[in-house]
Amino acid sequence: MKSVILIGYMGCGKSTVGRKLSYRLRKPFLDTDKQIEMKQKCTISEIFEKHGEKTFRDMETEYLRELLREKTDYVIAVGGGLPLREENRRLLRRLGSCIYLKAEPDTIYERVKSDTTRPLLRGEDPFERICKMLAQRNPVYESCADEILTVDEKSIEEILDEIEEMEKRGV
Ligand code: S3P
Repeated sequence: MKSVILIGYMGCGKSTVGRKLSYRLRKPFLDTDKQIEMKQKCTISEIFEKHGEKTFRDMETEYLRELLREKTDYVIAVGGGLPLREENRRLLRRLGSCIYLKAEPDTIYERVKSDTTRPLLRGEDPFERICKMLAQRNPVYESCADEILTVDEKSIEEILDEIEEMEKRGV
């Protein structure tokens, strides 16, 4: 299977880029968070509150298994924490190629600072939290990625052009 999968930290642009990329590559778009919300008929925040993070992570794994059974090629934006589970990384590899949209903490902070929908960024000092989580997650994202694309200070069009080039090279 050859889906194009966008991975990276919250706020790096996976959903925005993914939606536009799906037009360019003529593959349908999926966002794992949105799909899980539709299936569960509640928001990610509510899932975290009612059932805890572990249950949400299990839902992510189950959803990837479902996608593999579908045998359709998509552009997929995956939740920021999804690649952290080894099984998920194996499933992603079978689904297609992963592009890591890599962003600096400042870029991310600017984009998510007034967002209340991400349970892991609530609380004191979100910038500090972003820095710590990114330092932990960056090596995992890099190990999971077939390609790494830095997004800081790039327009959506520039990012899309770069991904299209990668696709032409057969990434
Ligand atoms: C999470 C990222 C979120 C969502 C959940 C947990 C994470 O998705 O899955 O809030 O652990 O990084 P986005 O990356 O689409 O914001």
